[in-house]
Formats: sequence, C-alpha cells, structure tokens
Amino acid sequence: MNDDIAAGPPAFDTSFPADGYAGDPAVRAEWDSRYADRQQLWSGRPNGALVAEAAGLTPGRVLDVGCGEGADALWLARRGWDVTALEVSGVALERAAGHARDAGLAVRWVHASLTEAALPPASFDLVSAQYPALLRTPGAAAERALLAAVAPGGVLLLVHHAGVDTRQEGEIGFDPADYVWPSMVAALLGEDWEVEVDEQRPRVAPDGGAGAHHTDDLVLRVRRLR
Ligand SMILES: C[S@@+](CC[C@H](N)C(=O)[O-])C[C@H]1O[C@@H](n2cnc3c(N)ncnc32)[C@H](O)[C@@H]1O
Repeated sequence: MNDDIAAGPPAFDTSFPADGYAGDPAVRAEWDSRYADRQQLWSGRPNGALVAEAAGLTPGRVLDVGCGEGADALWLARRGWDVTALEVSGVALERAAGHARDAGLAVRWVHASLTEAALPPASFDLVSAQYPALLRTPGAAAERALLAAVAPGGVLLLVHHAGVDTRQEGEIGFDPADYVWPSMVAALLGEDWEVEVDEQRPRVAPDGGAGAHHTDDLVLRVRRLR
C-alpha cells in the first residue's frame, strides 16, 4: 500500500446536482427500472472472483464500481477495507445502504456514473469492477477512469462474463460493442502497469440471482507500478 494515501478518507467533490446524482439520467433510469422489477436482483453474496483475488491483498482503500445491491462492498468492509461504492441506480444504492446499516458497516456510497463521479485521482489501493456494464465512448472515458482511480502500487480488478463480448445483439438483447470489456482496458496499459492476471476461467458464482447462468469469467488484474 502507498503510505501517501494511507491517512484520511478520499476528498470527494460532493457538489453533485440537487438530486445527488451525477451522470446520464437515462442510464440511471434504465438500471433503476431493472432493480425495481424485483425485490432483490442479485444473490446477496460476494462475487467469487473478488473473493479469490482480494484474499491475498492487504486491506486499504477500495472503490467498488457498479456496486449494485452492495454484497461485494459489505464483504470488503467486513474484512477491514475502507470502502467507497459507486452506482448509477438509486434503487440499488438504497438497498445496499440498508444492508450496511443492518450489518453495522460503514461504506461511502456514491450515486454517480463512473465517468462523472469526480473521484480523487490515483487514490484507491483496489478498484474492483465486477460485471460493471460500462458504456463505451470514443475517448475510452470509462476505461481511463478505472485506471485513473488506482493508486501507485494498487490493483485494478475487472471481471466480466466470458463470451458475451462476441455474441450477437439479437441473441442477448443489447449490442456488446456498446460496452467496455477487459481487453479494452488491457489495451490501454502502458509501462506503469503490470498484468498479474488476464485469463478466462470457470466462474465461482454465488447461488441465485440474475446472471447465475454465466459459467465463465474474464478476469483482468493489473497493478499500477508508479
Ligand atoms: C451487472 S450489474 C453488476 C452489479 C454488481 N457489481 C454485482 O456483481 O452484483 C452492473 C451494475 O453496473 C451499474 N452501472 C451501469 N453503468 C454504470 C456507470 N456508468 N457507473 C457506475 N455503475 C454503473 C448498474 O447499475 C449495475 O448495478
């Protein structure tokens, strides 16, 4: 862990619009509606790839990107991480915050899109993005935001469902070309980064919840050297 960033919480720009959300309202509405359709969308348990990859890391500051209903954020907080969890859906965030209150865990919740969140740069020892559904832009804003949040010495862990990026829009109801996949982040890495894991492997999936049918993960774990 980098000593420079060990003291105090990250200094956020909290000047979000009046409703507290920073991001595209259409993206928020789409995800709010998806969450509101069900009382609980995901399994409520942490993702297997995160559990496996974070096990050997010393707890520090972590950013959970697209935290959904908060299972990963709570799991990290229980293990001593200082957690900032970011999400576009207010419906999901309310559930996540409720679970944290019930468990007596402190998490910094940020209602924003990754690229609009005014995150403090280079401030997180771990940036975790589990199946994050980030829209692509011509300037690769989301890919760059993931990398920019990682502190020197820190890790970006990006996990996605394998095989989805090569499927046709007609089969899955959206165009995979519209979204960010691990290979797009890997393509931006310069000499300041070391690739620790870049592989497809069987998914250790929590039981239940939407998405339980996905059998393999793409796991990209990269470390920022300086
Ligand atoms: C497939 S879900 C995964 C949720 C959670 N990480 C998990 O594994 O259960 C993708 C999440 O990304 C969120 N999301 C979509 N676009 C986002 C953005 N631009 N910034 C942050 N979160 C976003 C969605 O609202 C949704 O909760």
